[in-house]
Amino acid sequence: MEVERKCGQAAGRGGTPRIAGVDLFCGAGGLTYGLVKAGVDVRAGVDLDPECAYPYTANNPGRFLEQDVRALSGRDLASLWRGADVSLLAGCAPCQPFSTYSQARDRRSNRDWGMLLEFGRLVAEAQPDLITMENVPQLAGDDVFMSFLDGLKGYSTWHGVVDCAEYGVPQQRRRFVLIASRLGPISLLLPVELGYRRATVWSAIGRMPPLVQGSADPHDPIHAAAGMSALNLRRIRASSPGGSWREWPPALRAACHRRESGAGYGAVYGRMEWDRPAPTMTTLCHGFGNGRFGHPQQDRAISLREAAILQTFPKRYKFVRPGERVKFTTVGRLIGNAVPPRLGEVIGRSLIAHATAVAERRAEPGVVVDREAVTPD
Ligand SMILES: C[S@@+](CC[C@H](N)C(=O)[O-])C[C@H]1O[C@@H](n2cnc3c(N)ncnc32)[C@H](O)[C@@H]1O
Repeated sequence: MEVERKCGQAAGRGGTPRIAGVDLFCGAGGLTYGLVKAGVDVRAGVDLDPECAYPYTANNPGRFLEQDVRALSGRDLASLWRGADVSLLAGCAPCQPFSTYSQARDRRSNRDWGMLLEFGRLVAEAQPDLITMENVPQLAGDDVFMSFLDGLKGYSTWHGVVDCAEYGVPQQRRRFVLIASRLGPISLLLPVELGYRRATVWSAIGRMPPLVQGSADPHDPIHAAAGMSALNLRRIRASSPGGSWREWPPALRAACHRRESGAGYGAVYGRMEWDRPAPTMTTLCHGFGNGRFGHPQQDRAISLREAAILQTFPKRYKFVRPGERVKFTTVGRLIGNAVPPRLGEVIGRSLIAHATAVAERRAEPGVVVDREAVTPD
């Protein structure tokens, strides 16, 4: 494929270039959902976790390939992009090796460590027009990212730490984002360019039906709150929004809190505040004892549905088949691991704006295409 022909043709039709995407490490489809909402034709998601198959396909138009990314080749990807104006490879490799919780461990012993380099291998083999990836901010300073970046020969890149709250995600979530293009200089659109405003816990989940701990909404099995021990119930009743275990009577404190080093546990066991963004949703965000995941008013942790909404999944995103038992650990993992769909949408809109601008520029009379930037057929 060749840049001038691809983008020039699309602009000649008066339309936006059609971007076909493949989402590696697709999980339950957070990134895919956002890209699709922006207008990207995501044709397939790849993940080796079979639990992702149902949510991915029930909410997104593309195929789900239950496969190890290490077994994919550039040829496989090329066949998925066939017929598109512009090809996109998205890949949010597992972030556990780079998270702050893993800093003390030897990252190289984690089998996920090489997944970013697998993504780099597929970029080299398939030479997509566009690339995007998301990960935890710690990745930016890691050698593995430097190696990945070195491999992006011929690409213009933009990368930086994005505060998702600035794009209207009702959550404190800072993520490292990279977008890259073989078509020309690229950057992520700013919140003001996209018209997104900050959101709060109230604006996201303030009108959800009330729940008692250990129960589920009869109309939505995912709007389910984990059961709490008698001790944790007494603790949450003693917690105010934004407070911590420090306001509890000594008898309610855990042993780790009583130790001097317990000072580091200030964020654990707390209620969210209505008028602020939620803390970062994690894979364990359905447990009161796992972070500031207490409901601002009701004596329970947030429900799985509330966690999904705080991640900007739409209210009806399906995570379990009708009638299937809801497993908190599975659904919590899918939700906590996801790229917020809103961030996916921001990335998608940025890629589409970029491809459209390139197409329009190339369609101008007298524009000479830089042969260096042209992809071989
Ligand atoms: C951070 S999550 C991705 C979340 C997803 N992008 C979303 O927005 O919902 C990383 C995913 O990588 C998957 N994974 C890990 N190793 C893999 C491999 N070798 N091949 C395919 N998928 C893998 C995990 O099962 C997990 O779903």
